[in-house]
Amino acid sequence: MQILLTGGAGYIGSHTIIELDKAGHSVVVVDNLSNSCEESVHRVSEIIGKPIPFIKADVRDAVAMDSIFKSYKIGAVIHFAGLKAVGESVAKPLEYYENNLNATFVLVSAMRNNGVKNIIFSSSATVYGNPAVIPITESCPKGECTNPYGKTKSMLEEVLSDVQKADPEWNVVLLRYFNPIGAHQSGRIGENPNGIPNNLMPYITQVAVGRRPELGVFGNDYDTPDGTGVRDYIHVCDLAAGHVSALQAIERKCGLAIYNLGTGHGYSVLDVVKAFEKVNGVKVPYSIKPRRAGDIATCYCNPAKAKAELGWEAKFGIEEMCRDSWNWQKNNPKGYEG
Ligand code: NAD
Ligand code: WQD
Repeated sequence: MQILLTGGAGYIGSHTIIELDKAGHSVVVVDNLSNSCEESVHRVSEIIGKPIPFIKADVRDAVAMDSIFKSYKIGAVIHFAGLKAVGESVAKPLEYYENNLNATFVLVSAMRNNGVKNIIFSSSATVYGNPAVIPITESCPKGECTNPYGKTKSMLEEVLSDVQKADPEWNVVLLRYFNPIGAHQSGRIGENPNGIPNNLMPYITQVAVGRRPELGVFGNDYDTPDGTGVRDYIHVCDLAAGHVSALQAIERKCGLAIYNLGTGHGYSVLDVVKAFEKVNGVKVPYSIKPRRAGDIATCYCNPAKAKAELGWEAKFGIEEMCRDSWNWQKNNPKGYEG
């Protein structure tokens, strides 16, 4: 099947192209490069040994999107495009609501107008808020999101669910990602944040490579085994493979389906630091800082539904995630810029 990846030049999208190619799918990528660069697509093209059709356009541009659906025989869309920085979304709520919601409205209208009714949406564990149950199953109620970014994910889940309810020919898969880290084993593609990283792993790798003096650990007084926050880190290649399994569900006409994509294991901030140091033989100096606003103590999932219904489960452990994150960073100390 030919798959349209919105936001396919980004971190998760670029890794997903490789898994789709392995499974025999072809891709078309549309991205406005607001948080990525075309170099990632070039590198993926080298890895898979094939050219990748790339359109630099904004998903909010209805004319551009209509033209993509008219030019290619798209069977399904994986919708990665969106702004994703939690802190920035608090400072710039309008930009986040405008970009993430409008991009999805324009995309889904263009899909409907062109008879394409299969979509996989990049949702997030953030929709559970402070989770009512740990480990989190898909039946756990959605919670109060403390930031506009998370609210866009929660709202868009509702929008897409309503679209599917109104027209049962739609297949809508909502994938709730936990904490993706790691990189492709080639070390050619990986996470490339702009400016100071918000997320733990890119911060660790930038400390290890000498770009930042130390990691700030946000709080050591949570109700967790060592007091630091616990999360469900998942290798980005495992996450990417989850999209291939979700496409198989679409081919079986799944209607509306929701899956957690995580490993089911929780690791604390200090567990990750220690694993990173051990597997890579590098030091990660850190100091304890105050809690970060909006953070929760513990978040990890029960991934049993994805295993039972999609036959998907994560294969990589925390050491492989740390190894591959470091392999990317040390080979590309300035990311795609050099
Ligand atoms: P990313 O920023 O690397 O990729 C998103 C891509 O979308 C970027 O290349 C950006 O340029 C593009 N984009 C943004 N707005 C666009 C628009 N209007 N038109 C065209 N392109 C646009 O982020 P990522 O980590 O690869 O995340 C992919 C998706 O998964 C996002 O929707 C994100 O919210 C979601 N998600 C990410 C994480 C995570 O921790 N990385 C966790 C849960 C969910
Ligand atoms: C992980 C742990 C921090 C940085 C965010 C979004 C979520 C999803 C994934 C998109 C926490 C601690 C972090 C640092 C630290 N994204 N930390 N020092 O907050 O679980 O999730 O990214 O959907 O929506 O909220 O991920 O990597 O920022 O933090 O101590 O410099 O590391 O407090 O315990 P988080 P993270």
